[in-house]
Amino acid sequence: MTNKVLFLILLSVLFISATWNWQQTLQKWPAPIQIKTVYASKASFELGRALFYDPILSVDSSISCASCHLSFTAFTHVDHPTSHGIADRIGKRNAPGLFNLAWRQNFHWDGGVTSLTGQAINPLTHPDEMGETLQHILLKLNRHPNYAAFFKRIYKQKQIESWMLLDALQQFTIALVSKDSYYDKVMQGKASFSIQQAKGFALFEQHCNHCHTAPLFYSNRFEINGLVIDTSDLGRYEITGLPADREKFRVPTLRNISYSFPYMHDGRFKSLKEVLRHYGQKLQLNDPQQKDLIAFLKTLTDSTFLTNPRFQYHTLTP
Ligand code: HEC
Ligand code: HEC
Repeated sequence: MTNKVLFLILLSVLFISATWNWQQTLQKWPAPIQIKTVYASKASFELGRALFYDPILSVDSSISCASCHLSFTAFTHVDHPTSHGIADRIGKRNAPGLFNLAWRQNFHWDGGVTSLTGQAINPLTHPDEMGETLQHILLKLNRHPNYAAFFKRIYKQKQIESWMLLDALQQFTIALVSKDSYYDKVMQGKASFSIQQAKGFALFEQHCNHCHTAPLFYSNRFEINGLVIDTSDLGRYEITGLPADREKFRVPTLRNISYSFPYMHDGRFKSLKEVLRHYGQKLQLNDPQQKDLIAFLKTLTDSTFLTNPRFQYHTLTP
């Protein structure tokens, strides 16, 4: 063998190992932050799922969690700029998708909630969402012909209490994991990007990844992404009261993003095209670059997750 051939072999080995390492880092998921409780089991997941889909949790039995968090759209309220609760009341924020929640340090657009288990108190009791009291929900559940037996099987006590309700709901939401997109297949070496997707990916790494960080495509931070904010919602500031937090919002995930329109905390942008026009002005990205980025963002759709029958409505069977 000539030196030239040896050199070429060495070069390609180096190249392959470098890309392999690069793929490993992008794929590596951090350790989850929210932890499953000791009650985690198939039965508690199924109970949580039944509760998630049951309008009994709202004051007039008209709204369930799933009314605002639909499985086919990654558990967002698609097409609604801000959420619609009981009696058509309108909330001030866009309902985020529910998946990969175990890796979140805090919840809601302002990070006002730090525990997934406790989070459900908010929609249950919010006057513009389900408008109920925990006390009245427990009364209804305890009177219900089936729920008491299902709760007893898991929590070993006859009377349903609020911690049990919150735990069961969390058993369902923590299990919503989405990690099977085209992007993931590319990272695992099972598929490859088109030329346009690859160009979009490179632009993404340059301009977006430091906030929307792979592999979760969010970060547990609050940032300003250049939107013009109206004073009715000052984001993180509403929780901390710190001037530095004015107009900061949490960095949302971009997984399943083509299904979770409209976009931003107030749902102001109807399409990814509008989102990219916004970033295009700020970051000086021209039209073809914006299109390349959208082509990449579409690879983050996980259709296995969107159509997973495990996450859809089922009746509780004894
Ligand atoms: C009326 C619509 C509506 C209903 C009903 C509703 N939600 Fe939500 N949900 C929202 C909105 C809007 C937000 C964002 C709130 C905010 O940022 O202030 C949200 C946020 C969340 C989050 C935090 C997600 C994140 O990434 O920060 C979780 C978890 C959640 N909801 C679960 C539930 C559960 C469980 C129920 C039923 C008990 C429920 N939701 C009922 C609209 C709704
Ligand atoms: C400085 C951090 C930062 C950078 C850089 C950044 N974003 Fe964002 N992004 C955010 C924040 C914060 C929000 C939420 C803002 C809000 O709702 O007020 C957001 C929202 C979004 C949304 C809407 C998500 C949803 O669920 O509504 C999309 C899509 C998006 N960004 C794409 C991108 C793309 C593409 C890039 C690169 C061109 C990018 N972002 C760069 C911080 C950032």
